[in-house]
Amino acid sequence: MCGIVGYIGKKDAYPILIKGLKRLEYRGYDSAGVALLNNTNQLNVYKTKGKVADLEAYASEKDISGCIGIAHTRWATHGEPNSTNAHPHIGASGNIALIHNGIIENYAVLKQSLQEKGVQFRSNTDTEVLVQLIDFIKTDKKVDLLTAVRTALKIVIGAYAIAVIDKTNPDVVIAARKSSPLVVGIGEEEFFLGSDASPIIEYTDKVIYLDDEDIVVIDRNKKDVEIVDFNNEKIEHEIVTVELNLAQIEKGGFPHFMLKEIFEQPDCLMDCMRGRINVEANNVTLSAIIDNKEHLINARRIIIIACGTSWHAGLIGKQLIENFCQIPVEVEYASEFRYSNPVINNQDVVIAISQSGETADTLAAIELAKKKGAFIYGICNAIGSSIPRATHTGSYIHVGPEIGVASTKAFTGQVTVLTMFALALGKERGSVSEEEYVRIIQELNNIPEKMKELLKIGDDVKQISRIFTYAHNFLYLGRGFNYPVALEGALKLKEISYIHAEGYPAAEMKHGPIALIDAEMPVVVIATKNALYEKVVSNIQEIKARKARVIAIVSEGDVTVKNMADATIELPQTEECLEPLLASIPLQMLAYYIAICKGKDVDQPRNLAKSVTVE
Ligand code: G6P
Repeated sequence: MCGIVGYIGKKDAYPILIKGLKRLEYRGYDSAGVALLNNTNQLNVYKTKGKVADLEAYASEKDISGCIGIAHTRWATHGEPNSTNAHPHIGASGNIALIHNGIIENYAVLKQSLQEKGVQFRSNTDTEVLVQLIDFIKTDKKVDLLTAVRTALKIVIGAYAIAVIDKTNPDVVIAARKSSPLVVGIGEEEFFLGSDASPIIEYTDKVIYLDDEDIVVIDRNKKDVEIVDFNNEKIEHEIVTVELNLAQIEKGGFPHFMLKEIFEQPDCLMDCMRGRINVEANNVTLSAIIDNKEHLINARRIIIIACGTSWHAGLIGKQLIENFCQIPVEVEYASEFRYSNPVINNQDVVIAISQSGETADTLAAIELAKKKGAFIYGICNAIGSSIPRATHTGSYIHVGPEIGVASTKAFTGQVTVLTMFALALGKERGSVSEEEYVRIIQELNNIPEKMKELLKIGDDVKQISRIFTYAHNFLYLGRGFNYPVALEGALKLKEISYIHAEGYPAAEMKHGPIALIDAEMPVVVIATKNALYEKVVSNIQEIKARKARVIAIVSEGDVTVKNMADATIELPQTEECLEPLLASIPLQMLAYYIAICKGKDVDQPRNLAKSVTVE
């Protein structure tokens, strides 16, 4: 939610900042801006409504020189997306420019008090309060920039990652974070800032992940950066090497990141299982389980907390864990959980699932559960992000950076880790039979190959998409393990094609949604040959009797449903508990191709952001 990038060194900052913004555009894309200090220490600020490409077009005729600069791509919270509300914001003196990711919660009080002192505001944002406050303190108290930033941050309440430049301190960038991510890149006589490492890795793999309440002073004449806390006490941080390569964050010949990420899934799942599944030894090992056996084996209850797609993965996780571990599992939206005064104690285990590792509600839910004594296990994708650092232990899903806003490979990676978790913990508890344990491990290992085969259905799905592009409403139905897949399929369609879609447990259709069904409402039904197959077949008959068109996801060789449905997509046979890993693929593709047919921007759908770092 908002991307920030900064550069200070000997090169031209502008091209580095623009490239960095493009890499961070998944975090927000309603407006963008850049502030540069040129070699006569003039502060140039350019801002536009729209995407980074619009900023580039706008700035093309301007003075974009300078070796120090900060830039921002916005997802609006306070104040509509326009060029005035875009960042950077400038203080009243005209000397200081600031970019911000997060929300300043007490901005209204601070704004009023600054206005009473004569400060004039230009924008409707919460962010402007921060730069005006820093500027005011610096001028009023005649202190240096660092003191002004420290003092201001002690006053503001909220979440932020900020970067500040000051034309009266042209060799320095100051940045700070609290509850929003910020990474410092350490190059040769140059430094970088980013909301994540993606704008940095092209230049250096040495980074520092800042912690909450860290303030970093980056001076281009010094070899090292200086990090202090709010009381000006020095803080030492390890410089770490990021394992991220450029190919992972580029489209690699695909027209969209989403399609690339759909097709990457077989490889991603192999990466996710590597070193964890041993098919020769019939074994699955997660080091986090081995290292924390006593907490996990004796869990009285497991509570899964997550948002969005990760919450859907959690619903599948519940079924897996209850099946293999015989531990009761609850699945909660993090945003509800954090305000619900939940009954939790030290016999509970909380599993927090998050692709980005930065979702504000999930982080807050973790803190609450921790306070109440629960043991917290994270399942995340972004290495070094805030959630893995806030949890007691956890497992990364290792599917590589996910850039398309609609989550695809992270979902199947999360389900894969949850499957391994349930099997490994079930084995430790003795609650899964040896026969079942071995059978599922063997089949899990086959999933990437089956997925590869399945991905060849692209052209068929494209055909189906053309037929259904003009529907205004869709219903997605599934049962058991495939009910969360139906929810996820509907979410994918909503997110990128803006078609209203609802996911429902197939049998619940009779209790309401059936009233909506008519010839205009396509129904996607996951009707694979499992224990509930016959029941789902009856549901399809009920739908057909009401003239709706059915797109059915069936098992290979199915004839019954094929004869009833208007379109079918066949899935390779697999274990029932692993079906979500395959069934989600055609639904991802369906959403993708329908959005393409409608001419939508699939990688950057309106109003959404990949990483939701605000409540
Ligand atoms: C946003 C994203 C979704 C994601 C959700 C939770 O809404 O657009 O794709 O599922 O946040 O994010 P997380 O990073 O915690 O999994």
